[in-house]
Amino acid sequence: MKIAILASEGAPYAKSGGLGDVMEALPAALARLQGNEVTLILPYYKKIKDNPKYEVEQVAQFYVALGWRQQYAGIMKLKNRADGVQVYFIDNLYYFGGREGAIYGDMDDAERFAFFSKACLDTLVCLDFIPDVIQCNDWQTAAVPAFLKMQYSPLFPGTKCMFTIHNVEYQGWANGDFYDNVLALPWEYRGVLDMNNSVNLMKGAIECADLVTTVSESYAQELMYPYYAHGLDGVLTDASWKLTGITNGIDTNTFNPETDPALPAHYNAKTFVKGKAACKAALQQEVGLPVKPDVPLMVMVTRLAGHKGLDLLCYIARRLLWEEDCQLLILGTGEKQFEGFFTQLQQEYPDRVAAKITFDLGLAARIYAGGDLYLMPSKSEPCGLSQMNAMRYGTVPVVHATGGLKDTVPGAAETGANGLGFTFQSYNADDFLASLKRGLHLYRNDRKAFQTLQKRGMEQDFSWDVPAGRYMELFHRMLSQ
Ligand code: GLC
Repeated sequence: MKIAILASEGAPYAKSGGLGDVMEALPAALARLQGNEVTLILPYYKKIKDNPKYEVEQVAQFYVALGWRQQYAGIMKLKNRADGVQVYFIDNLYYFGGREGAIYGDMDDAERFAFFSKACLDTLVCLDFIPDVIQCNDWQTAAVPAFLKMQYSPLFPGTKCMFTIHNVEYQGWANGDFYDNVLALPWEYRGVLDMNNSVNLMKGAIECADLVTTVSESYAQELMYPYYAHGLDGVLTDASWKLTGITNGIDTNTFNPETDPALPAHYNAKTFVKGKAACKAALQQEVGLPVKPDVPLMVMVTRLAGHKGLDLLCYIARRLLWEEDCQLLILGTGEKQFEGFFTQLQQEYPDRVAAKITFDLGLAARIYAGGDLYLMPSKSEPCGLSQMNAMRYGTVPVVHATGGLKDTVPGAAETGANGLGFTFQSYNADDFLASLKRGLHLYRNDRKAFQTLQKRGMEQDFSWDVPAGRYMELFHRMLSQ
């Protein structure tokens, strides 16, 4: 099958979050399946352009019509990728190549990614790669299904289109005049992208795509409720017949405690007790906490954003530290209020709390390995990847039972029986504290049972093989529709 995957980020070239990880591993997993030909198209950001590791060759150039604008697009073919995925970058100095800093957050983001979406379709035509399936991701490529249906269908006669929602919070809103001014789509389809007299690109994608997926089964259900859907609950309920959840995997080659070059000691599900003890001691030392093998180390690697549940942690943090003998380590950057809170907490409890306000992939891996409990109290979580990384490294998750967290971390009993971690049902700080305490008490009072729980997590198959198979099933279903 010929598959084109379109996205605004993909590791290792450019990544701001989980979407970047998925766009590294999913194309590779699909390319491993016999008979598939997989192309991935990404924007040619400045940081990709400036990185000498990526050898590219320009294979085409053309102009993309965006309303009255004619914008240049250079197609850069990546020459050195070994796993069978063909990567192309779309070069445009004005929208991507000439901008410093973060990849999103500019005033004209809607226009930048409308350009990218249209340029992707023009690229496929220009390269004469007319795929069976186009898979696009999140609002940045949400104009693709609309362009495909309203303008490009004669050029892609048999092509089917899947739209995947990684996070419904960001939808691609623009003023009403964006429709004529930038998208310049036929007027009779205006209502498809209209939401309260504005343009909502994600709404257009949900309506125009042949199938819509999201990144866990529970999130697919949750998306039909106002609490989770950020205004799109009605649109998603109407589209429920074509909405499916496929839980993400993680890259089990990169995230492998037996081989991860970032770790000071290596281990597997048989040798983890010794291996993790060595990693924990090294980690405590690295972050400036007293090396205490029997004090439970609670860890968190996260963007410091509100919906990650940090308000719950802030609310209970001092009580937790008063009531329990434990250490807390946080790695991440983000909203100033949380950066400030954890920095202050570290000053108050220098031998109990370490706050590393930075982005450091190596330290993140050492935290997954050296921690005892991994905290993820997210308010909502479409899938979440780091709870799976944590389990793979033998760290027991404590999570809010929502979205992908609910699907990947079945709750264990107080005794550690069944389940993979400790969970709480309602988004409430005291419930979070209670579930954390269950974890801390099991660690302290029945270390053998705690280790059985760690081992169970390590033995799970979080690889992309199963989800890649499910994507293939849906691709076939679209093609037979
Ligand atoms: C988004 C979601 C996260 C998910 C990731 C990959 O970042 O917030 O839950 O794991 O996308 O699909």
